[in-house]
This record gives sequence, structure tokens and C-alpha cells, in this order.
Amino acid sequence: MAKLIDGKRISAEIKEELRTKASLWKQEGREVTLAVILVGADPASCVYVNNKKKACEFIGIRSLSYELPEETTQTEVLNLIEELNNRSDVDGILVQLPLPKSISEEAVLTAITPQKDVDGFHPMNVGALCTGKRGFVSCTPAGIVELLKRSEVEITGKECVIVGRSNIVGKPMALLMLRENATVTIAHSKSVNLKEITKRADILIVAVGKPKFITEEYVKPGAVVIDVGIHRNQDNKLCGDVDFESVAPVCDAITPVPGGVGPMTIAMLMKNCMEAKEM
Ligand code: GUN
Repeated sequence: MAKLIDGKRISAEIKEELRTKASLWKQEGREVTLAVILVGADPASCVYVNNKKKACEFIGIRSLSYELPEETTQTEVLNLIEELNNRSDVDGILVQLPLPKSISEEAVLTAITPQKDVDGFHPMNVGALCTGKRGFVSCTPAGIVELLKRSEVEITGKECVIVGRSNIVGKPMALLMLRENATVTIAHSKSVNLKEITKRADILIVAVGKPKFITEEYVKPGAVVIDVGIHRNQDNKLCGDVDFESVAPVCDAITPVPGGVGPMTIAMLMKNCMEAKEM
């Protein structure tokens, strides 16, 4: 049976480290502030935003919450971002996605000053990642690299296959694994012979958004499997993109859902907020 990669424990460790650092900073009169903008009341987004606020509270980061009604216009959101960009007491700005259809995600994300873009979604930060410069890295991929490192999984020289090519996970994940010296393949819904591709992976990272999509036939024995998906099944139970029961017996290590990648995303957001203070 595979070793469990415990994201809950590792994220708690990181948050504890950040808490210690924040409390030292506070003694020097330095306080970190994150502004969180939520437009509308998507239930999943409300849960994520609340979890982010709770993490801020735990660490000692001040959070400013802007919960705006569904009818808010793009101009109103852009005006708020401009105000927060100009405030010297605000270090990080996060706009929870998805936005209502009437608001352009691109217009909003590019309006955030790159130095305050703790989600790492601004094209300047994506470009910095691409060219190996300093900048904010998208939290889920950054969390996965941290999980691998703290679980002593060797990345250099390994075959890494990423299934999924989203801007938030798949693409930045590939760039990060490349930076860590892996040999990287991105596969996606149009890939032919997906099983043959995923079976090459020493490290298989799955972000396809389909419950229990990856079964044992997709996995090389002894691989490390990272599951980014989170879904609720008919019995209200959480599951990932990987069929855990089928895959765990053949792989070397695997992240559970819940308690794998999920908690790491928030821990890395908190890390980015602390780094924003130094930008
Ligand atoms: N919606 C889903 N994932 C994310 C994320 O990482 N950041 C933000 N801002 N919104 C999201």
C-alpha cells in the first residue's frame, strides 16, 4: 500500500512557521494585510474565502473582506482594485474566482498590481515564472512542489506527467516542475493514448476535474500520485480526480482527498502574503 502524503500535517507545519514569523514581525511593528474580494455568493467560493480569512487570523495576518453583491459592475470592481493598489497598508489583493459572467476575469486580474498579486495570476507573474524570475507563483502548484519536497520525493531528472492544462494549475505546474529539473509532459482531454502517457510518469499530477477519472491502469507501479481534484459524490462524500482505492495499492505515495493538496493551497497563499510585505 502506498505511503500517504499528508497535506494536512505539512500545511499545519508551514502555517506554524509563518505564524512565528508574523509574530516576530509584529513586535517590530510590521503587520501584513490581505484584501479579499468576493463578488456574488457562489457557495464554494464563500467556503474558500472563509477558509482564507480563518488562515489569516491563525497566522496573524490582517484581512480586509469585500463581499460585493452579484450585480456589482466591472467598473466598481476595478475602482476598488485601484484603491487597494494605492493603499500602502495593503500588501496582498485576492479576487476570488469565478466572477459573475458580466465581469471580465482578464480585466480584473490584470488590474491588480503584480507586487500585490498573491494568487500569482497576473501575466507579469506568469511571465516571471516562465523565465525564471522572482514573482508570485500560483498557490496550488507551489503547494504541490512544497508537498513533494517535504515528503522527500526526488524531482530532479524524474518523468513528470501533468493531466490538465488550466491557467491556475496545469500550466504553472509544468513550469514549476521544469524549474525543479523534472522532464515534463502536459496531457489533456485531447491527448491520444492518455494511459500510455500517464504510465510513463514517476510523478503523476492530476487536475482534470472528473471524479475518480484516473484508475490503476493509468499509473506506473511505484509512481508518486498527486490528486488536485475535489468532488462531492452522491453520498455527500469527498473524492478526487484519482480513484484512490484502485490506485493506492500500486503506487509508492499518494495524496488523499480531502487532506492532500487542498490545505496546501491556503498555506501557500499565506506564504505569498508574507512575501508581499517584502516586495
Ligand atoms: N477559485 C478557485 N481556485 C482559486 C484560487 O486559487 N484563487 C482564487 N482567487 N480563486 C480561485
